[in-house]
Amino acid sequence: MARKKLIAGNWKMNGLLADGTTLAKGIAEEVKKIGKPQCEFLVCPPFTLLSAVKKALRGAKVALGAQDCSSEDKGAHTGDVSPVMLKDCGCQYVILGHSERRADHKESSELVNKKAQAAHKHDLKTIICVGETLEEREAGKALEICTTQVIDSVPDTSTWQNTVIAYEPVWAIGTGKIPTTKDVEEIHAAIRKTLSKKLGKGNANKMRILYGGSVKPNNAKELLSLEDVDGALIGGASLKVEDFLGIAKNAGVC
Ligand code: PGA
Repeated sequence: MARKKLIAGNWKMNGLLADGTTLAKGIAEEVKKIGKPQCEFLVCPPFTLLSAVKKALRGAKVALGAQDCSSEDKGAHTGDVSPVMLKDCGCQYVILGHSERRADHKESSELVNKKAQAAHKHDLKTIICVGETLEEREAGKALEICTTQVIDSVPDTSTWQNTVIAYEPVWAIGTGKIPTTKDVEEIHAAIRKTLSKKLGKGNANKMRILYGGSVKPNNAKELLSLEDVDGALIGGASLKVEDFLGIAKNAGVC
Protein backbone atom coordinates (compact mmCIF):
# COMPACT_ATOMS: atom_id res chain seq x y z
CA MET A 1 0.00 0.00 0.00
CA ALA A 2 1.41 3.36 -1.01
CA ARG A 3 1.75 5.97 1.70
CA LYS A 4 -0.76 8.77 1.15
CA LYS A 5 1.05 12.09 0.89
CA LEU A 6 0.30 14.63 3.64
CA ILE A 7 0.38 18.34 2.87
CA ALA A 8 0.39 20.06 6.24
CA GLY A 9 0.32 23.78 6.98
CA ASN A 10 1.88 25.04 10.21
CA TRP A 11 0.55 28.55 10.64
CA LYS A 12 2.72 29.11 13.74
CA MET A 13 1.80 32.28 15.70
CA ASN A 14 0.07 33.94 12.75
CA GLY A 15 -3.50 34.95 12.09
CA LEU A 16 -6.27 36.87 13.78
CA LEU A 17 -9.90 35.85 13.56
CA ALA A 18 -10.63 37.70 10.31
CA ASP A 19 -7.59 36.76 8.21
CA GLY A 20 -7.35 33.24 9.67
CA THR A 21 -10.95 32.56 8.72
CA THR A 22 -10.42 34.00 5.25
CA LEU A 23 -7.35 31.82 4.74
CA ALA A 24 -9.18 28.68 5.89
CA LYS A 25 -12.16 29.45 3.65
CA GLY A 26 -9.84 30.03 0.69
CA ILE A 27 -8.09 26.70 1.25
CA ALA A 28 -11.44 24.91 1.69
CA GLU A 29 -12.75 26.33 -1.61
CA GLU A 30 -9.67 25.26 -3.56
CA VAL A 31 -9.65 21.77 -2.07
CA LYS A 32 -13.35 21.38 -2.89
CA LYS A 33 -12.51 22.23 -6.52
CA ILE A 34 -10.06 19.31 -6.62
CA GLY A 35 -12.94 17.02 -5.67
CA LYS A 36 -11.35 13.87 -4.35
CA PRO A 37 -7.74 14.80 -3.55
CA GLN A 38 -5.16 12.00 -3.80
CA CYS A 39 -3.28 13.51 -0.88
CA GLU A 40 -4.38 14.49 2.60
CA PHE A 41 -4.53 18.20 3.46
CA LEU A 42 -4.07 19.50 7.02
CA VAL A 43 -3.94 22.97 8.56
CA CYS A 44 -2.58 23.70 12.02
CA PRO A 45 -3.64 27.20 13.11
CA PRO A 46 -2.93 28.73 16.54
CA PHE A 47 -5.16 27.56 19.42
CA THR A 48 -7.23 30.76 19.29
CA LEU A 49 -8.40 30.00 15.74
CA LEU A 50 -9.11 26.28 15.98
CA SER A 51 -12.88 26.56 16.38
CA ALA A 52 -13.30 29.26 13.73
CA VAL A 53 -11.09 27.39 11.25
CA LYS A 54 -12.97 24.16 11.90
CA LYS A 55 -16.17 25.95 10.91
CA ALA A 56 -14.57 27.56 7.86
CA LEU A 57 -13.35 24.17 6.61
CA ARG A 58 -16.77 22.55 6.78
CA GLY A 59 -17.45 20.28 3.82
CA ALA A 60 -13.84 20.32 2.56
CA LYS A 61 -11.39 17.43 2.83
CA VAL A 62 -8.97 19.35 5.05
CA ALA A 63 -8.02 18.05 8.49
CA LEU A 64 -7.48 20.26 11.53
CA GLY A 65 -4.50 20.14 13.86
CA ALA A 66 -2.87 22.06 16.69
CA GLN A 67 0.78 23.00 17.13
CA ASP A 68 1.37 21.59 20.60
CA CYS A 69 -0.41 19.97 23.55
CA SER A 70 0.13 19.25 27.20
CA SER A 71 1.15 15.83 28.46
CA GLU A 72 -1.64 16.12 31.04
CA ASP A 73 -5.39 15.72 30.56
CA LYS A 74 -6.55 18.57 32.80
CA GLY A 75 -5.91 20.45 36.01
CA ALA A 76 -3.52 23.03 37.43
CA HIS A 77 -1.37 23.72 34.36
CA THR A 78 -1.83 27.42 33.63
CA GLY A 79 -1.49 28.30 29.97
CA ASP A 80 -1.44 24.70 28.73
CA VAL A 81 -3.94 23.03 26.43
CA SER A 82 -4.67 19.33 26.77
CA PRO A 83 -5.19 16.71 24.05
CA VAL A 84 -8.76 16.26 25.33
CA MET A 85 -9.43 19.94 24.66
CA LEU A 86 -7.97 19.66 21.17
CA LYS A 87 -10.22 16.71 20.39
CA ASP A 88 -13.14 18.72 21.71
CA CYS A 89 -12.29 21.52 19.21
CA GLY A 90 -12.35 19.04 16.33
CA CYS A 91 -8.62 18.42 15.94
CA GLN A 92 -7.39 15.19 14.41
CA TYR A 93 -3.68 16.03 14.58
CA VAL A 94 -1.16 17.76 16.81
CA ILE A 95 2.38 18.84 15.91
CA LEU A 96 4.85 17.96 18.68
CA GLY A 97 8.51 18.78 19.25
CA HIS A 98 8.79 21.48 16.60
CA SER A 99 12.29 22.98 16.77
CA GLU A 100 10.79 26.34 17.78
CA ARG A 101 9.26 24.68 20.85
CA ARG A 102 12.44 22.73 21.54
CA ALA A 103 14.36 26.04 21.42
CA ASP A 104 11.88 28.57 22.89
CA HIS A 105 10.43 26.32 25.58
CA LYS A 106 13.40 24.00 26.20
CA GLU A 107 11.27 20.99 25.28
CA SER A 108 13.24 17.77 25.50
CA SER A 109 12.63 14.65 23.45
CA GLU A 110 11.50 12.96 26.67
CA LEU A 111 8.75 15.56 27.12
CA VAL A 112 7.75 15.24 23.46
CA ASN A 113 7.48 11.49 24.04
CA LYS A 114 5.15 12.04 27.03
CA LYS A 115 3.01 14.51 25.08
CA ALA A 116 2.73 12.05 22.20
CA GLN A 117 1.57 9.29 24.55
CA ALA A 118 -1.08 11.63 25.97
CA ALA A 119 -2.21 12.58 22.47
CA HIS A 120 -2.45 8.94 21.38
CA LYS A 121 -4.48 8.10 24.48
CA HIS A 122 -7.10 10.55 23.21
CA ASP A 123 -6.99 9.46 19.57
CA LEU A 124 -5.03 12.42 18.29
CA LYS A 125 -2.51 11.78 15.55
CA THR A 126 0.92 13.20 16.23
CA ILE A 127 3.38 14.86 13.88
CA ILE A 128 6.68 14.46 15.71
CA CYS A 129 9.39 16.83 14.48
CA VAL A 130 13.12 16.22 14.45
CA GLY A 131 16.01 18.06 12.85
CA GLU A 132 19.58 19.24 13.28
CA THR A 133 20.94 22.77 13.71
CA LEU A 134 23.48 24.24 11.29
CA GLU A 135 26.24 23.73 13.83
CA GLU A 136 25.32 20.08 14.17
CA ARG A 137 25.21 19.60 10.40
CA GLU A 138 28.57 21.27 9.93
CA ALA A 139 30.02 19.03 12.63
CA GLY A 140 28.82 15.99 10.64
CA LYS A 141 26.28 15.06 13.31
CA ALA A 142 23.00 15.52 11.42
CA LEU A 143 22.24 11.83 11.08
CA GLU A 144 23.04 11.03 14.69
CA ILE A 145 21.00 13.97 16.03
CA CYS A 146 17.92 13.09 13.96
CA THR A 147 17.94 9.40 14.71
CA THR A 148 18.52 10.02 18.43
CA GLN A 149 15.61 12.46 18.46
CA VAL A 150 13.42 9.82 16.81
CA ILE A 151 14.46 7.14 19.33
CA ASP A 152 13.76 9.44 22.30
CA SER A 153 10.70 11.37 21.05
CA VAL A 154 8.63 8.62 19.46
CA PRO A 155 6.72 6.66 22.13
CA ASP A 156 5.97 2.95 22.10
CA THR A 157 2.32 3.87 21.57
CA SER A 158 3.21 5.05 18.04
CA THR A 159 1.86 3.18 15.04
CA TRP A 160 1.78 4.11 11.36
CA GLN A 161 -1.84 5.12 11.83
CA ASN A 162 -1.32 7.58 14.69
CA THR A 163 2.13 9.00 13.99
CA VAL A 164 3.82 11.03 11.29
CA ILE A 165 7.47 12.11 11.49
CA ALA A 166 8.63 15.46 10.14
CA TYR A 167 12.29 16.00 9.31
CA GLU A 168 12.93 19.72 9.55
CA PRO A 169 16.54 20.90 9.48
CA VAL A 170 16.49 23.90 11.85
CA TRP A 171 18.67 25.95 9.50
CA ALA A 172 16.20 25.46 6.62
CA ILE A 173 13.16 26.77 8.52
CA GLY A 174 12.08 30.18 7.28
CA THR A 175 15.44 30.81 5.61
CA GLY A 176 14.80 29.90 1.97
CA LYS A 177 17.66 27.38 2.21
CA ILE A 178 17.04 23.69 1.62
CA PRO A 179 19.33 20.67 1.96
CA THR A 180 20.52 18.81 -1.12
CA THR A 181 18.22 16.06 -2.30
CA LYS A 182 20.94 13.58 -1.35
CA ASP A 183 20.96 14.88 2.23
CA VAL A 184 17.15 14.71 2.48
CA GLU A 185 17.15 11.15 1.15
CA GLU A 186 19.92 10.11 3.52
CA ILE A 187 18.14 11.44 6.63
CA HIS A 188 14.70 10.12 5.63
CA ALA A 189 16.12 6.65 4.96
CA ALA A 190 17.93 6.70 8.32
CA ILE A 191 14.74 7.77 10.10
CA ARG A 192 12.81 4.90 8.49
CA LYS A 193 15.50 2.43 9.51
CA THR A 194 15.38 3.74 13.08
CA LEU A 195 11.58 3.46 13.11
CA SER A 196 11.88 -0.09 11.88
CA LYS A 197 14.12 -1.02 14.81
CA LYS A 198 11.87 0.76 17.26
CA LEU A 199 8.35 -0.03 16.04
CA GLY A 200 8.85 -2.94 13.66
CA LYS A 201 9.09 -3.10 9.89
CA GLY A 202 5.33 -3.06 9.33
CA ASN A 203 4.91 0.27 11.07
CA ALA A 204 8.08 1.78 9.63
CA ASN A 205 7.18 0.98 6.04
CA LYS A 206 3.75 2.56 6.30
CA MET A 207 4.61 5.55 8.52
CA ARG A 208 4.77 8.89 6.72
CA ILE A 209 7.92 10.97 6.97
CA LEU A 210 7.44 14.60 5.94
CA TYR A 211 10.10 17.07 4.91
CA GLY A 212 9.81 20.61 6.30
CA GLY A 213 11.89 23.76 5.91
CA SER A 214 11.39 26.37 3.18
CA VAL A 215 9.08 24.21 1.07
CA LYS A 216 7.66 26.43 -1.70
CA PRO A 217 5.72 25.80 -4.92
CA ASN A 218 8.96 26.01 -6.92
CA ASN A 219 10.86 23.32 -4.98
CA ALA A 220 7.91 21.08 -4.08
CA LYS A 221 8.28 18.68 -7.00
CA GLU A 222 11.96 18.09 -6.38
CA LEU A 223 11.47 17.45 -2.65
CA LEU A 224 8.22 15.50 -2.76
CA SER A 225 9.36 13.09 -5.46
CA LEU A 226 12.21 11.77 -3.29
CA GLU A 227 12.07 8.14 -2.20
CA ASP A 228 11.12 8.42 1.46
CA VAL A 229 9.44 11.85 1.44
CA ASP A 230 5.74 11.39 2.14
CA GLY A 231 4.62 14.98 2.21
CA ALA A 232 5.56 18.38 3.56
CA LEU A 233 5.23 20.42 6.73
CA ILE A 234 4.90 23.96 5.47
CA GLY A 235 5.31 27.17 7.46
CA GLY A 236 5.51 30.47 5.56
CA ALA A 237 4.01 29.18 2.31
CA SER A 238 0.98 27.77 4.15
CA LEU A 239 -0.24 31.30 4.88
CA LYS A 240 -1.19 31.95 1.25
CA VAL A 241 -3.89 29.88 -0.43
CA GLU A 242 -2.13 29.83 -3.82
CA ASP A 243 1.23 28.81 -2.35
CA PHE A 244 -0.21 26.10 -0.09
CA LEU A 245 -2.24 24.58 -2.90
CA GLY A 246 0.55 25.32 -5.38
CA ILE A 247 2.88 23.04 -3.44
CA ALA A 248 0.48 20.09 -3.74
CA LYS A 249 -0.30 20.86 -7.39
CA ASN A 250 3.28 21.40 -8.54
CA ALA A 251 4.38 18.26 -6.75
CA GLY A 252 1.61 16.38 -8.56
CA VAL A 253 0.30 14.82 -5.36
CA CYS A 254 -3.31 16.05 -5.29
P1 PGA B 1 8.93 27.21 6.72
O1 PGA B 1 8.59 26.51 8.13
O2 PGA B 1 8.17 26.50 5.67
O3 PGA B 1 8.49 28.65 6.90
O4 PGA B 1 10.41 27.10 6.53
C1 PGA B 1 8.44 25.13 8.24
C2 PGA B 1 8.14 24.74 9.66
O5 PGA B 1 8.72 25.31 10.59
O6 PGA B 1 7.32 23.84 9.90
